[in-house]
Amino acid sequence: MSSPLVPKSRIVGTGRYVPEKILTNHDIEKLVDTSDAWIHERTGIRERRVARDGETTSDMAAAAARQALEMAGIPASKLSMIIVGTISPDTPMPACAVHVQQKIGATQIPSFDLSAACAGFLYGLSIGDQFIRSGQAEYVLVIGVELLSRVLNWQDRTTCVLFGDGAGAVVLGPSGDTGRGVLATRLFTDGSLAEALIIPAGGNREPITPEGIAQFRNKVHMQGQEIFKVAVKNLASASKDVLEAAGLTADEVRWVVAHQANLRILAQVASRLSIPMERFVLNIERYGNTSSASIPIALDEAVRDGRIKAGDNLVMCALGAGISWGGAAVRF
Ligand code: ACO
Repeated sequence: MSSPLVPKSRIVGTGRYVPEKILTNHDIEKLVDTSDAWIHERTGIRERRVARDGETTSDMAAAAARQALEMAGIPASKLSMIIVGTISPDTPMPACAVHVQQKIGATQIPSFDLSAACAGFLYGLSIGDQFIRSGQAEYVLVIGVELLSRVLNWQDRTTCVLFGDGAGAVVLGPSGDTGRGVLATRLFTDGSLAEALIIPAGGNREPITPEGIAQFRNKVHMQGQEIFKVAVKNLASASKDVLEAAGLTADEVRWVVAHQANLRILAQVASRLSIPMERFVLNIERYGNTSSASIPIALDEAVRDGRIKAGDNLVMCALGAGISWGGAAVRF
């Protein structure tokens, strides 16, 4: 994939949007048989954001995108491409990216979604980097956005406590001769675990029926322990792969910006990488698992509050349904 150490694309702007409405663990105690103590101890989550009625995936994505464009200092008309990682688009057809293009006022540029669940942002970052690397794009808007609250079964305590809504965005632009930018990306998929995290109904394998709706077949189903085990192993190995490809040691990594799925997963990844948790950007306590949005939201928070500085070496890693996973090494 990307050639090491010769970045061609650089993150020139970041942005995020989370809905105003906060749903705490105590609020969820009123919906299912759970407790704040159980959720926090097992996952690290205290609260998550939930979109208001009528708010759409592309509304959230466009809000994050506007912030990223503002930081990049370019108008939407300068974008060459829009990539949206999401599994919860406004409409099954056309893509969420199409609605985003309209909302931010971009021109007739290629705008498409990719479905890689929690790994969607990293898939988008890698694809955007390839287009800039090959000279076919100058500025690429990469968004991770999910409105998962509408695809959860709010009677299933094994899933509804985990997820939240939100959007994060970056603008990739030319790195010039700064030496800063995307150093290496690696992407993986293991389809043998496709059933472990799935929305079974709604495609043509299992069309939505009244009986299916009654059984929540159109909502998220997950084998949590199975996902937990592969997440630890694969997040660590993808991070090691990109570090090696970028010629970086663990000591040279300033920040790990990992998918916020579960604090215990991240603690075990930290141990396998020999990188202390103090160097992980964490926000799972406030937002839960926002799937493809979690890395760009965490990135934007840490950039705007000054933790991440120009020249810092970052490792990003994510894993989700597919299962699909990946890593990126970035000199910010
Ligand atoms: N509240 C109270 N009890 C619960 C809850 C809950 N919300 N959920 C499950 N339990 C119960 C179970 O029923 C079980 O009870 P039992 O022993 O009587 O059968 C008990 O708690 C233990 O359940 P486990 O599934 O063993 O709990 P575990 O420690 O594995 O935690 C969790 C479950 C949090 C889902 C964990 O497996 C996990 O985080 N997995 C990763 C899933 C994930 O993050 N998926 C997101 C997408 S993929 C990704 O982003 C990496």
